Amino acid sequence: MVRKGWSFWQGYVVLLALAVVVKAESPYRFFDWNVTYGDIFPLGVRQQGILINGQFPGPDIYSVTNDNLIINVQNNLDEPFLLSWNGLQQRRNSYEDGVYGTTCPIPPGKNFTYILQVKDQIGSFFYFPSLAFHKAAGGFGGIRVLSRPRIPVPFPDPAGDFTLLIGDWFKNDHRQLKAMLDGGHKLPFPDGILINGHGLNGASFTVEQGKTYRFRISNVGLQNSLNFRIQGHKMKLVEVEGTHTVQTIYESLDVHVGQSYSVLVTMDQAAQDFYIVASTRFTDNILSTTATLHYSNSNKAVSGPIPAGPTDQIDWSLNQARSIRTNLTASGPRPNPQGSYHYGLINITRTIKVVSSAAQVKGKQRYAVNSVSFVPTDTPLKLADYFKIGGVFRVGSIPDNPTGQNMYLDTSVMGADYRAFVEIVFENHENIVQTWHIDGYAFWVVGMNGGVWTPNSREEYNLRDAVSRSTTQVYPKSWTAIYMALDNVGMWNVRSEFWARQYLGQQFYLRVYTPVNSLRDEYLIPKNALLCGRAQGRSTRPL
Ligand SMILES: *[C@@H]1O[C@H](CO)[C@@H](O)[C@H](O)[C@H]1NC(C)=O
Ligand SMILES: *[C@@H]1O[C@H](CO)[C@@H](O)[C@H](O)[C@H]1NC(C)=O
Ligand SMILES: *[C@@H]1O[C@H](CO)[C@@H](O)[C@H](O)[C@H]1NC(C)=O
Ligand SMILES: *[C@@H]1O[C@H](CO)[C@@H](O)[C@H](O)[C@H]1NC(C)=O
Repeated sequence: MVRKGWSFWQGYVVLLALAVVVKAESPYRFFDWNVTYGDIFPLGVRQQGILINGQFPGPDIYSVTNDNLIINVQNNLDEPFLLSWNGLQQRRNSYEDGVYGTTCPIPPGKNFTYILQVKDQIGSFFYFPSLAFHKAAGGFGGIRVLSRPRIPVPFPDPAGDFTLLIGDWFKNDHRQLKAMLDGGHKLPFPDGILINGHGLNGASFTVEQGKTYRFRISNVGLQNSLNFRIQGHKMKLVEVEGTHTVQTIYESLDVHVGQSYSVLVTMDQAAQDFYIVASTRFTDNILSTTATLHYSNSNKAVSGPIPAGPTDQIDWSLNQARSIRTNLTASGPRPNPQGSYHYGLINITRTIKVVSSAAQVKGKQRYAVNSVSFVPTDTPLKLADYFKIGGVFRVGSIPDNPTGQNMYLDTSVMGADYRAFVEIVFENHENIVQTWHIDGYAFWVVGMNGGVWTPNSREEYNLRDAVSRSTTQVYPKSWTAIYMALDNVGMWNVRSEFWARQYLGQQFYLRVYTPVNSLRDEYLIPKNALLCGRAQGRSTRPL
């Protein structure tokens, strides 16, 4: 608990100092990835997929808290490519974030070695290709960060641990989808749902009767919230994007685009096969797909009707979201309770309102945040910042609050002070469910409700055990409020996870800044950083 006269940051700094004292060299894990095009048939028709070492989806990354991940990515596509890491915080190191604002694209035929550390993290995340509209072609995979051996995990070791990447899918190749967007059109409704790259009951998970398994479910799709359920089985939620949750039982779970959840499932049914189902939520036409839960002693194939999803719409989902809370007495990445630094007692230093909009600009579909529709420049913002190259972006090119102006295009960067403690209110005036993600951070989801947020809405915040995560949904005509401790210096992407929307401008960068030049706050540019645009020809050796 935060003691009287003892600020959040003081406690935090002492904890960091302790961590440095006991620090031993963390292990290195090496990955060699070859990115190529290849034929895939997830919905029965041939498509051009993006493969990693020949695989669709790509290989899972297995790691342990504080591991260093050295990932050499060879780009054998005929266009520039980058991978980004949904939920990995890249502490002090936004250079490795792999989005256009931080990292130069890997040119065709070239390679780039990401040097990441999964510092002080546990849990379930995923990686994905961030440029163009590559995410519609694959190139994604699961990331798991296990607890270090002596750190208690608040449930017994499961008998097995599965990654389930679920998401909507189009039969169109990613280039066609991109051409639609570039031409000023919206995306159509998707054609199907995939589970681990299979749209036609292709994925199968073999389990032993009586045992308990962990399923890590991530929605890697482009736009649709999905409901996830397993015929005849209950799911115990244990982790959400790096936070051990209060262990609640659910019949089905809404997984919004970009989110990750871990559930435990006990194989307590008769020896047969069962459906695993993912289906669209809040759509008139419900798309769904199934996979098979196969008991190793099964004597019966999957049968019976595919279990239906919840028929209740927004209220059901909202109530479920509010029921997802942090287990305050469980350990996180460190052997201390997750509730030890209490966010609810910290004074907010700034409130930012993020209001989305959709409109036509010069006859073309665009999406915006506070009226600004993001356009990239020729030079990653982080590199422009590091090399002090003027004219690439302006801090303050996006307001903290909606202005009611007509939509306009700009390279939007919001400035923020290192160690500020901010409240961000996402307001959704539209009729769709939105999801927002912030790179480099986890934040506390303190409240969500229908209607318009007012300062009085703070009275209904959960200031005790809100879940800490990196991706949150905002329901139609509703708001979601988060608290975030700006403890990670860098240039961080804030984006809609609705992929066409981020592609057409619904994103901006948060520049978390300190005037102090110290490696304790931010690392130097990596020596192997690719240089492009106006950063070309500069030196990555210390200035
Ligand atoms: C990558 O895959 C392509 C296509 O399979 C192959 O031609 C190439 O040799 C591979 N490159 C590496 C470095 O493994
Ligand atoms: C490309 O790969 C080679 C080794 O395979 C490595 O030495 C080099 O640093 C990599 N390039 C970059 C930019 O990371
Ligand atoms: C919270 O975690 C503790 C400590 O690991 C565990 O004993 C307890 O069962 C968990 N409580 C809930 C409600 O999940
Ligand atoms: C928060 O602000 C109040 C009123 O200004 C002050 O009394 C309190 O000490 C502050 N709390 C912390 C933890 O800084």
